[in-house]
Amino acid sequence: MIAPVQVLNEADRYKLDGSDDALFYAEPRFVQHLDAGFRARLTSLYRERIPPCAVVLDLMSSWVSHLPDEVTYQEVIGHGLNAEELKANKRLDRHWVQNLNVDQQLPLANECVDVALVVAGWQYLQQPEAIATELLRVIRPRGEVIVAFSNRMFFQKAPQIWTDGGDSDHLAYVGQVLMAQGWNQPQLLEEDTTSAGAFGWLGGKGDPFMAVIASKPINS
Ligand SMILES: C[S@@+](CC[C@H](N)C(=O)[O-])C[C@H]1O[C@@H](n2cnc3c(N)ncnc32)[C@H](O)[C@@H]1O
Repeated sequence: MIAPVQVLNEADRYKLDGSDDALFYAEPRFVQHLDAGFRARLTSLYRERIPPCAVVLDLMSSWVSHLPDEVTYQEVIGHGLNAEELKANKRLDRHWVQNLNVDQQLPLANECVDVALVVAGWQYLQQPEAIATELLRVIRPRGEVIVAFSNRMFFQKAPQIWTDGGDSDHLAYVGQVLMAQGWNQPQLLEEDTTSAGAFGWLGGKGDPFMAVIASKPINS
């Protein structure tokens, strides 16, 4: 693997629960980690940005990928920490299990993916620079990475760089890590969403929506 450009220091990488992440994810969680308003916005973003012919990588996935039901992609490759969740994810054509805080090398060929997605996952990465480097390797030139998240997290499993910051800090931080590894300057989205049902009709807000969208330079 190409040596990544380090952005974080040791303290930034520290998390309260330092036990093996595989233990934390040993039991499947068939729950939605993000509310309906957030999920609707994410699916509409995917509809806008991902062409149907694309090979999609859903990194840090679960039993759901939030891709639009009506679109068939060339292939959707999934990765996560719980095999049962991934097996239950109907959008995935294939998947693998890997602890990215232990091993950052992705078992994928160079430039075989068009778009990589990370949803509510980046906040658990202790070596995000190496992951950004690997994503740059496996994505085709002009391909994109879309990192989406809200303001929720499993606090004890998130490194200090995430727990110490707010939404805007998180956007800037993800962008900084990507650019340090050679990704183009990303587009940053920070939006309100509408709550589902009656609360939404009354103006109630859903989970805030944040996304970092970066493209791979043609010559990298
Ligand atoms: C909050 S869930 C989000 C899952 C999914 N992307 C979604 O939208 O529902 C966080 C996910 O991050 C992944 N994850 C967390 N820590 C990880 C680690 N150390 N290595 C690999 N994946 C990890 C797991 O796949 C876990 O399901």
